[in-house]
Amino acid sequence: MAHPELPVTEPDFSVTDRSFPEFPAGFFFGAATASYQIEGAHDEDGRGPSIWDTYCREPGRVAGGATGDVACDHYHRYREDVGLLRDLGVDSYRFSVAWPRVQPDGKGSANAAGLDFYDRLVDELLASGISPAATLYHWDLPQALEDRGGWRVRETAERFGEYTALVVDRLGDRVGRWITLNEPFCSAFVGYAAGAHAPGAREGRGALAAAHHLLVGHGLAVRALREAGAREVGVTLNPDRLLPATESAADLAAVRRAKTLHNDVWLDPLFAGRYPENEAETWGEPADNPSYRLDGDLRLIGAPLDFVGINYYRPITVADAPYRDPDPATRTATDIRAVETWREDVRHTTMGWPVVPHTFTDLLVDLDRRYPGLPPLLITENGSAEADEADADGRVRDTNRVEYLRGHLEALAAAIRAGVDVRGYYVWSLLDNFEWARGYDQRFGIVRVDYETQRRTPKDSYRWYQGLIAAHRGRT
Ligand code: NOJ
Repeated sequence: MAHPELPVTEPDFSVTDRSFPEFPAGFFFGAATASYQIEGAHDEDGRGPSIWDTYCREPGRVAGGATGDVACDHYHRYREDVGLLRDLGVDSYRFSVAWPRVQPDGKGSANAAGLDFYDRLVDELLASGISPAATLYHWDLPQALEDRGGWRVRETAERFGEYTALVVDRLGDRVGRWITLNEPFCSAFVGYAAGAHAPGAREGRGALAAAHHLLVGHGLAVRALREAGAREVGVTLNPDRLLPATESAADLAAVRRAKTLHNDVWLDPLFAGRYPENEAETWGEPADNPSYRLDGDLRLIGAPLDFVGINYYRPITVADAPYRDPDPATRTATDIRAVETWREDVRHTTMGWPVVPHTFTDLLVDLDRRYPGLPPLLITENGSAEADEADADGRVRDTNRVEYLRGHLEALAAAIRAGVDVRGYYVWSLLDNFEWARGYDQRFGIVRVDYETQRRTPKDSYRWYQGLIAAHRGRT
């Protein structure tokens, strides 16, 4: 019998509709997080500062002046968090390794105490029957490397290859799945052009050089992983489903420019052996073989992969617009005469993102048709931020998130039925966490985190996902 004073969550649990989308045999389910967003312990065991530590300390950058200093305190609570993953029933957990824990200055030999944390985490996962999937770069660049130019310079790509070798040397006997970069679009264009992520720069050419050096860094990391005998190697991108605000020629051209910026910069060199065709229309002059592109780079970048990770959240509706900055000398790389427009016809999450699940199917089918050289896909992130609260009985009834996940998993199943080779799905995120410039107000977790007490409470969406995983196992 339940203790009368404790919140009764499990026995009266009912997400009423228990019909789950169906997936093929062998399809796997997981949950994802990232180091800076959950770990905290920002100065423990020799960790050096990252660009996010610096950025968070600059007034006005992050909502509420939040930082990742403590975050979800996962560094100390990882056992409890792995317990949540085990009870959820996931096959795999995607986490990221914080480069400044491994190389506090971004170069040289490994800081053993920093790597020890991931060693413990990986062992705990394996003991719980969960396959680890490690992302090597989820945006926390060592500040020392930013001080030398960051991703604007090739040296950072070379350092990334060396760092990768250190990590795989220590964890490669137990980690099967490796993701080099997470959403390089954000690193290059949100970080170095829009100024809305660390390091907060607003540049044109610098951001385009950063995009190229991220791809070169990916290539060098793949090489290091292959040399160490890594089994499954890929990269995570966030290709967008870009829709025109109207069918006018001007809006369609704006979509083409946005597609170059968001998608082709990454997909073309990785999977089609070329730089994007539409660069000149998008940015003007940098298309003409800029000096940071060296002979042999396309071969390095295009090395075969075992999978490509896709993060997908929402479509973006685009309209033609004047340049925000009329001066080409100071114009940033995201200033491409296009703006995102608001949709009146659909629900938006608290991020202000429209919920339109079928666009997920459309994106995946389109990618599959457009890039015949694409390796199998993994969905490495998908989820929604909602204004959920714990009710008086302690339960978090996050119906909106359940509906979001159901809609997107149905859309994913439809893409698979249409012939797209997708092997697995990670929900974003296991825990509420530090949502970058939006701080802690945006809650993406299927587990609620009370930041005062660090108490974890599985939400209804956790129970729903648990049910889906169990139903899938029962069927296949
Ligand atoms: C993508 C990023 O990889 C992740 O860090 C972020 O929290 C989610 N999108 C939600 O914005």
